[in-house]
Amino acid sequence: MDTIDLRSDTVTWPTDEMRAAMAQAEVGDDVYGDDPTLNRLEAEAAEMLGKEAALFVTSGTMGNLTALLTHCQRGDEVILGKQAHIFRSEAANAASFGGIQLNTLELNPDGTLDLDQIEGAIREDDEHMPRTRLIALENTQGSLFGVPVSAGYTDRVGDFARARGLGLHIDGARIFNAAAALATPASDLVAAADSVSFCLSKGLCAPVGSLLLGDSDFIQEARRTRKALGGGLRQAGILAAAGLVALRRIPQRLHEDHVHACALAEGLVDVPWISVDPTQVYTNMVYLELSPEAPLTVEALAARLLDEYNVQIARNRYSPTTIRLVTHYWVTATDVEQVLRGFRQVLS
Ligand SMILES: Cc1ncc(COP(=O)(O)O)c(C=O)c1O
Repeated sequence: MDTIDLRSDTVTWPTDEMRAAMAQAEVGDDVYGDDPTLNRLEAEAAEMLGKEAALFVTSGTMGNLTALLTHCQRGDEVILGKQAHIFRSEAANAASFGGIQLNTLELNPDGTLDLDQIEGAIREDDEHMPRTRLIALENTQGSLFGVPVSAGYTDRVGDFARARGLGLHIDGARIFNAAAALATPASDLVAAADSVSFCLSKGLCAPVGSLLLGDSDFIQEARRTRKALGGGLRQAGILAAAGLVALRRIPQRLHEDHVHACALAEGLVDVPWISVDPTQVYTNMVYLELSPEAPLTVEALAARLLDEYNVQIARNRYSPTTIRLVTHYWVTATDVEQVLRGFRQVLS
């Protein structure tokens, strides 16, 4: 990477091994089911997550949309967190394309939803009301410090949903970060879910792609939904080849990114105008507040860090004074020192 880019883990470039695998990938037409590399990726992902089947989609957004469209009919309702990516950052796609209503609840600081509140949000069987169809969780919960959500809690939500005839979807864009932080296999974190999506292209470093997983019937139906969305791909083995390297190599190193995130937070504690709580670093995200009295705005700070220290940061979309730093494969321990030097010198 040319700059030390902390804006997100979506900025990660593919590794040399991924690029080599892409160049040599055996391919076929995936709409005919003929792409051996893509078939391998889907099979390995299903095995790793403990689900019957998997479907390659182009992005996390497409994985979530495909899941919601497959679970729900028009006029159905999904219960999820107010801070969920599906609600805040997916361009109202469930409403635009599926006629699906989102019923949001405030998340607890640990990324969980209260079961009592979910119970209260479930609609009665009444012709005036939407039909509650699905509960959606997010793990890690990106907008809440990237906090990982435990298998125990997810299992409770799964039991709760099943007892009420509802489905459970997990937006597991960063499920392997959660698995690393909790030292729990990713398959345990999603065992209770009817569907889960995760991203190859964030901390796992692949250039493109996400997977949607569930039982075979669900994935067969989701394949139809994906086709309707224009997501039936042809020689996608080129992309899947990078995804296979990502799945096989990267999950076991994600704890390094978490160590770097902690080092960033600890190093920023004493920097003037910055407030940060290192105890709220759970995975690869560090949330900082720049004091409104600081002598420069987040935008001005970002410009100076880039010009003078080759460090890229961005303001949080939802607040003018919040900065989110995200560590990933291309951020080294030396980079962390450079970032800290930059913050200290610009703000002192
Ligand atoms: C929690 C979460 N879910 C879903 C997505 C969507 O992924 P994509 O950008 O690949 O559409 C993101 C993207 O950052 C995310 O953070």
